[in-house]
Amino acid sequence: MAIEIKGTGKGIPSRRVSNEELARQVETSDEWIRSHTGIGARHIASEENAASDLAVEAARQALDMAGLEAESLDLIVIGTATPDFQGCPSTACIVQNRLGAKSAGAMDLAAGCTGFIYGLETAAALLCIKRERRRVLVIGVDVLSRITDWNDRGTCVLFGDGAGAVVLEKTDAPSEGPGKRGLLRSILGADGSGAEYLMIRRGGSRHPWKAGETIDSSACLEMNGRAVYNFAVKAMTDTIENLLKEEGVGIEEVARIIPHQANARIVQAAGKRLGIPEEKFFLNIEEYANTSAASIPIALDELNRSGGLSRGDLVMSIGFGGGLTYGGNLIIW
Ligand code: ACO
Repeated sequence: MAIEIKGTGKGIPSRRVSNEELARQVETSDEWIRSHTGIGARHIASEENAASDLAVEAARQALDMAGLEAESLDLIVIGTATPDFQGCPSTACIVQNRLGAKSAGAMDLAAGCTGFIYGLETAAALLCIKRERRRVLVIGVDVLSRITDWNDRGTCVLFGDGAGAVVLEKTDAPSEGPGKRGLLRSILGADGSGAEYLMIRRGGSRHPWKAGETIDSSACLEMNGRAVYNFAVKAMTDTIENLLKEEGVGIEEVARIIPHQANARIVQAAGKRLGIPEEKFFLNIEEYANTSAASIPIALDELNRSGGLSRGDLVMSIGFGGGLTYGGNLIIW
């Protein structure tokens, strides 16, 4: 039995905001943003679009590629830090209804930018645990523009909106030995002592909005950039090493690494520490910036659709983000 990816898709808002356009609103420059992050543009959702709208678009593309109807899904798992609504209903339930996935259970998963990696492993485990469960839609989606302080140049230049999706199917292919396929293993990690380094302070049960309160700024993502940077380089390095060690393979056997697209410098630093050539990492941060839980499945879809993946390729995804969380998946394409 193998857990295979049968289709990929993405939902990207059409509005593209270049660094130059942003530099007309806050004190920054194309040169600073590119040299410090590798970002050249981001796509921003229109006011009437929320996470579920982008997620539905990505899901339809993934189902199309898999040649499957939404009715055949047994479960929908969505990784997001920016759900349509706070806590209830889940964005997954909204997507389930919009797709007409009547037989599917639906749940959201909160693991920050690592949401898709956690989602993939959760979905695979739930497929293994029950014989009748065959197909899961896994989505990473975030609309970070809604929780961005657009006056803070330290964060607003980094983020974009988007969704990415995959259809996972349980197949008869082997998951071990010769000809093995699909999701081989994952690492899921967390370090809650760094919770404050990436935090949406207001709106939850710790600091709810109160009646009569005058709100002079909306709920925003606060970030300690330097601390997150240091955490991210170590999380990436350790996770790559541990995935290779656990699977008993060398880096030369990995065809592509799809890292969370937070900052190209984080990826370059981790690659340098491990002596991994830059070309092994797939980066599309220049066009989309950091789309949080969506960044890995968007990259996976781009790579897949552009013919960048061949059957049998060993592919690694590596993520890190709010929580703090980190993790990775090893997949045979
Ligand atoms: N434009 C121009 N100047 C800027 C900007 C900007 N957009 N932002 C900061 N600066 C200035 C600062 O004010 C500072 O000036 P000073 O030296 O006069 O005080 C100078 O640039 C350097 O600032 P630093 O914060 O030290 O810049 P650094 O090189 O550390 O880069 C960055 C900052 C890009 C945020 C980096 O720390 C980083 O990438 N951290 C990780 C962020 C991350 O990955 N976050 C998301 C992960 S989780 C999620 O995805 C939700």
